[in-house]
Amino acid sequence: MDTAMPRGGKQAKKREHFSHISDLIGHKSVQKLEDITHHRVTNRLIHCMNVSYYSYLLCKRLRLDAGAGARGGLLHDLFYEENSGKQKKNNWRLHGYTALENAREFFDIGDTEADIIKCHMFPLSPDRPRYKESLVVMVIDKYCAILERVLFWR
Ligand SMILES: [Fe+2]
Ligand SMILES: [Fe+2]
Repeated sequence: MDTAMPRGGKQAKKREHFSHISDLIGHKSVQKLEDITHHRVTNRLIHCMNVSYYSYLLCKRLRLDAGAGARGGLLHDLFYEENSGKQKKNNWRLHGYTALENAREFFDIGDTEADIIKCHMFPLSPDRPRYKESLVVMVIDKYCAILERVLFWR
C-alpha cells in the first residue's frame, strides 16, 4: 500500500508553513504572546498562528510570497499591551507600528514582512499597504478575528 503523502496534502502544507516560521516560533518574544488575551476569547499567539497559516495558504494559492505571508502573519501582532480600557483606541489603530519595532528588535525583517506588519490595520492605520501580501494578511486578520470570536465564544 502506498502511504506517501500526496503533494499538496494538508500535512505537507503544515510542514511547509512551519519551515517558514521555525526560526521565529520558539523565540521568547513570540512565546510571550501566549500570555496575552486577544479578542477577549483567545490568546495572541493562537491568533497570530491562525493569521500566519491562512495567510500562507492564500499567498501560495495566489502565487505570492507565501513565506513573507507566513512570517509577517506570525509577527503582525507582536506587541504586549492588553487592548483594554483607555489604551484601547490608540493601540488598536497603531499597534502595527509597535509590532514592527519589536519584530525588528529580535529578527531580520524584509521589506514585504515590514509592510505586512505595519499596515495590517489599514484603513485604521495611516499607512497604505504597498504589497499584495500585505493585503492578504490584512484580510485574513479580520477573517480570523471573526472566526475566533465565533468559535471560542463562551
Ligand atoms: Fe493587529
Ligand atoms: Fe491580528
